[in-house]
Amino acid sequence: MNPLDSHGGSSTSLDNYEFTFEAFLQDSARIEPDVSPSYHYPNDPTENERLDDQHDILRIVLDGRNHLAPFSRANPPRRVLDVATGTGTWAIEMGDEYPESQIAGTDLSPIQPSYVPPNVRFFVEDSGEDWHYTQKFDYIHTRMTLGCCLRRPLAGGYFECQEVLCLPSTDDDTLPASSALLKWMADLKAASDEADRVLYLGPLLRQWLEEVGFQDVREVVYKIPVNGWPRGRALKQVGQMWQRNLVNGLSGFSLGLLGRVRGRSVEDIERQLVDVRRELFDQTIHAYQKFYVVWGRKPEA
Ligand SMILES: C[S@@+](CC[C@H](N)C(=O)[O-])C[C@H]1O[C@@H](n2cnc3c(N)ncnc32)[C@H](O)[C@@H]1O
Repeated sequence: MNPLDSHGGSSTSLDNYEFTFEAFLQDSARIEPDVSPSYHYPNDPTENERLDDQHDILRIVLDGRNHLAPFSRANPPRRVLDVATGTGTWAIEMGDEYPESQIAGTDLSPIQPSYVPPNVRFFVEDSGEDWHYTQKFDYIHTRMTLGCCLRRPLAGGYFECQEVLCLPSTDDDTLPASSALLKWMADLKAASDEADRVLYLGPLLRQWLEEVGFQDVREVVYKIPVNGWPRGRALKQVGQMWQRNLVNGLSGFSLGLLGRVRGRSVEDIERQLVDVRRELFDQTIHAYQKFYVVWGRKPEA
């Protein structure tokens, strides 16, 4: 069942639907309406640098684009909201690309720079709380939210989600079921479930948007190799960059969920990560992660 169906016990149509990501996730994530979801990843300089590297890689995967929703210089969005903006790099680049647009970025952490284009503003806020500003938006973007929730006014226009499914896949069975990578992922998934965060968000998005009445919903799924195993030069380079990014993030992905949520010691977690790291360097394993980009149009009222 689409978690949106049961929100407020009412309609599945957008007519009566104030777009709320909170509703979107509430049932599946078991998030209490009045409780902010906890976020179990770091926001320190190491993680912020990793986020900026990740931004660069995802942009390469998207052929240099920041979005797939059908905006262009000739048809720019007017008011853009980037929820859980992180270091704000996406929002800043959008501000440069669309100088006539107003761009807002929000996050729990004030980790965005102060020197930004004049049309870009950042707000510290929890996206699970009510929106206290008067603005409505015609384009809302989220990326790598790892299941944070959203209650934001979308005044027509587009909603676009970009999420990497961290669960690795292969097309040639080179990742055995007993692999350290899959065991680690299962541990993270169990901890994330316990923390009421949806870890495997990407594959759910399309159906959810369709079921609440978004129109022209589109989904594009990219494959990002976990290391430089592909033969083709372009994909090999993406894989090499992605491997570095994953390796740099391993502790950050793990310590909060496996330590704080599951109560495991840092030593125990780091021991497990030795094997994960080894597999991430193993080019006989042809694993990739799926990158979901899903967008849809809210019909005019
Ligand atoms: C993995 S980072 C992604 C950042 C950015 N979207 C990107 O793609 O680079 C996730 C971000 O979500 C933010 N976040 C998590 N839960 C949030 C919430 N409830 N409200 C606002 N921001 C949240 C975190 O502070 C973090 O900066």
